[in-house]
Amino acid sequence: MAARAVKTLWLLHGVNLDMLGRRDPAVYGTMTLAELEAYVARHGETYGFTVRSFQTNHEGEFVEKLHQIVIDAADAAIINPGAWTHYSYALHDALELVEAPVAEVHLSDIDQREEWRRTSVIADVVDVRVRGKGAAGYVEALEKLAGLVEERRRA
Ligand code: DQA
Repeated sequence: MAARAVKTLWLLHGVNLDMLGRRDPAVYGTMTLAELEAYVARHGETYGFTVRSFQTNHEGEFVEKLHQIVIDAADAAIINPGAWTHYSYALHDALELVEAPVAEVHLSDIDQREEWRRTSVIADVVDVRVRGKGAAGYVEALEKLAGLVEERRRA
């Protein structure tokens, strides 16, 4: 039997998410970004993903990381772009280039907060959307992405 190929999944966090642990715990939980990244990496392994993590407060760097994902033909990505979700058409256009399945994850339920958070300008260019489930939402995204990667391999 052939060895199961290792799949690479990028976990990208955008603006202000480096401050997890200090941001309102009632909204974002108590985990720091480092703890969240370790949690996702650990769960990722159970779905056969090697998780690589990246965070930036600079929109252009986030876009360039998405370009790198295209060039490297990574297998999947989970992104939480923070506030860029709500207005960055640059992210929308970069995501159009990504062939690998992408999940948009938000710790908080953006549909139950301020009006301006209810818009996601990237919703139509991602494959999976999870919101309001805290860290567990990332595990839900991993599971769904693993299924999509498998489906595409079989196709
Ligand atoms: C967030 C929700 C965004 O509205 C906010 O700007 C963030 C975090 C979330 O994970 O709940 O920075 O993406």
